[in-house]
Amino acid sequence: MPGEILDIITSPVCVVTAQNSDKINGMTVAWIMQAAYNPAFIAVSIAPERFTHSLIKESKSFGVNILSDGQRHLGKHFGFSSGRNTDKFTDIDFHKSKSGLPIFDNVYAYIECRLINILNAGDHDLFVGEVLEKNIDDTKNPLIFKSSDYF
Ligand SMILES: Cc1cc2nc3c(=O)[nH]c(=O)nc-3n(C[C@H](O)[C@H](O)[C@H](O)COP(=O)(O)O)c2cc1C
Repeated sequence: MPGEILDIITSPVCVVTAQNSDKINGMTVAWIMQAAYNPAFIAVSIAPERFTHSLIKESKSFGVNILSDGQRHLGKHFGFSSGRNTDKFTDIDFHKSKSGLPIFDNVYAYIECRLINILNAGDHDLFVGEVLEKNIDDTKNPLIFKSSDYF
């Protein structure tokens, strides 16, 4: 199974957010990495069928909530339904960043990016973003992805 070898690379569980003029959405992402040092770039891997994929392409920006270790329920909530027809933010505690993207309460870290490039990677696309804003809560620990916790 290809999944087994992909699962040994450690990553935090994140909720990537994006918006258009009508809607804010978020989706769970575990495939995220550092991509450049100066300026700081990160890359997130998103399948084209995700609603968030089209929102990032349209708005050319995205937010990343790196969940803390008590927030697995948020990883499940944002990872198993599409925002195409639902509002995943009902009953979620958050405030908005300067640009209007949601920052969850009690999150380990928040990063906001300007889209730099989209690179195809087979059945996913890599969204490369330049870090414009960041905040880390040192009192918390990140939620580390383990596939058996979700699938
Ligand atoms: C723990 C977890 C990790 C996930 N990681 C990714 C990922 O890295 N890339 C991706 O395209 N989808 C990933 N998904 C699936 C999306 O989060 C899921 O398809 C989501 O419903 C898409 O939402 P949207 O259509 O509102 O954008 C993950 C799901 C879970 C539960």
